[in-house]
Parts: sequence; structure tokens; C-alpha cells
Amino acid sequence: MSVDLEKILRPIDHEMAPYEPKYMMLASGEAVVVRQVFRDEIPDLLKHVEPLVHVERDYYDVVASRVYAELLGYYRHRFQDQYVLALQVDGELAAIVNGRQVTPKLGLSLHTLAMRRGLRIGAHGFAAKMEYHIDTLGHDEVLVVAESPIGFRRWMLEYKLEKRFDTPHELGGVPSWALTRELFNAARSKLVVGRRPVPADILEKAMEKILPPSDPPTPPLDPLAATRSLYDPTATALVQQRWEMEKGMEHA
Ligand SMILES: CC(C)(COP(=O)(O)OP(=O)(O)OC[C@H]1O[C@@H](n2cnc3c(N)ncnc32)[C@H](O)[C@@H]1OP(=O)(O)O)[C@@H](O)C(=O)NCCC(=O)NCCS
Repeated sequence: MSVDLEKILRPIDHEMAPYEPKYMMLASGEAVVVRQVFRDEIPDLLKHVEPLVHVERDYYDVVASRVYAELLGYYRHRFQDQYVLALQVDGELAAIVNGRQVTPKLGLSLHTLAMRRGLRIGAHGFAAKMEYHIDTLGHDEVLVVAESPIGFRRWMLEYKLEKRFDTPHELGGVPSWALTRELFNAARSKLVVGRRPVPADILEKAMEKILPPSDPPTPPLDPLAATRSLYDPTATALVQQRWEMEKGMEHA
């Protein structure tokens, strides 16, 4: 009986061509590899996404919560036609991007989550997934939304995305934006970088193990500090709260 029910609950994924790995050099002089992560490796990503659920800054909390649910849904066969790419520097997890195929001609961008900041690793990850949708899967356009101002700058402004405001996006039902094949081709020379094939030693290191991010975003000492600081430019409330917390610790 339970076996039969599982047949109903479990979506049947459509066949999707795999993502061919690529690599590029970062401004730091390090090589970053972009490669696909399949179901069996998802638990290795989840443990690095979970701590970000508690980081309010730059909307990491919202994005990480959603990514966690999407990855878990994929792992446990409760998400249809999802793909996941990881960006790794020397094996170390630097970003995760994911999306899904809606129809053979329409793609949907889910998330981009950078764990190493300041090197445009997230931007490279987004470009890689758009390349996968348009060049590999043959989608004519990809529906995109931004949950954070940085995301809006990176996707809507840098790619000059078109409005598709009559189409609610799967992420929260908010109005969609679209990356069309024409927009992608216009951005290709400036925003889409990387070389193939990845040298064997670099790819082997990435495939061997997903190592923890060495400097991931962390929550502030004070809970909700990011929100409060928006209304408290001199951080007086923050300092006072920190004193209170320290007093509490002294008496613990
Ligand atoms: C959006 C995101 C993927 C972009 O990643 P990215 O391209 O690697 O860019 P970064 O986040 O490192 O940097 C973005 C900007 O913040 C600055 N920045 C923020 N924190 C930084 C840090 N710790 N070190 C260095 N720079 C930092 C960068 O200088 C950069 O400025 P620029 O836009 O003028 O270049 C990433 O910010 C992220 O994961 N944010 C949280 C989740 C999110 O919003 N995802 C997208 C949903 S739409």
C-alpha cells in the first residue's frame, strides 16, 4: 500500500542533459569550478546551507531557508525537474545555484547563494545557470526574481531583464522577470565566462569532496541586529543590547 502511494507522491523527472563543468579564474587568482551536484551529494550541501538560515544580512535567511527546502525536496523526491550546481574553490564550497525546467522551452531560476563574498562568485554562478538553461536545455527564456537588493542589481539591472509581471513566480508568487535568449546573447561576452574542459586535477579535487566554506556569512552577535541597525545608524541600541548580553553572560 505505502509503496503504491509513493508512486503517486514521487514526481517523475523529465530527462535533462547534464551540465558540462567549467572553470574560471577569480580576481583572487584562484580557480573556481562550476559543476552539477546530483541527488546523492545533496546532504553535503544541506549542512552548509542550514547555518545561513540564521543570517539576516542581505536576505541570507530567506534565501537559505528556501534553498534548504528545495534541496531537501530534491533529495527526497518531492521536487520536479530541479538541477543544482555547486561552485568550488579548491574543493571548498563557494556558492550554490539551482533552478528547474517548467516546460521544454521555459526555465525557472530558483536561487543563487554565495558563501564566499566579494569575488563575484554568485554572479558567475547565475551566469552558469542561465547558460545551462539557454544553451544546454534549449529554453527560450528563464523566469527570474530577486529577493535581495544585491540580487536585483546583479540580475535585473546587469542583464536588463524584461518584466513578465502578469506571470507569478513560483518563489512566493511575486511578479516575474525574464531572461530571454536575446538578452542572454547580448550579455554573453561581458558576463558569461569560463573554460572547458576543466583540467583533470582541478575537476578531481572538486568531485572528490565538497569541503566546508572557509569564511561563510555568519549571524551577528546580537539577534536581529541587521534589522535594528536600519533604524539606528549610530548603533546605540546595538551597543546597549550587547552590554546587556555581556552582563547576562557574566552572571551565567
Ligand atoms: C546575490 C549574491 C548571490 C551575489 O553574489 P556575488 O556576485 O558573489 O556578490 P557578493 O555578494 O560577494 O557582493 C555583492 C556586493 O556586495 C559587496 N559585499 C558585500 N559583502 C561583502 C563582503 N563580505 N566582502 C566583500 N564584498 C562584499 C561587494 O563588494 C559587492 O559589491 P558590487 O555589487 O559593487 O560588486 C550574494 O550576495 C548572495 O548570496 N546574497 C544572499 C542571497 C541572495 O540574495 N541571493 C540572490 C537572491 S535574488
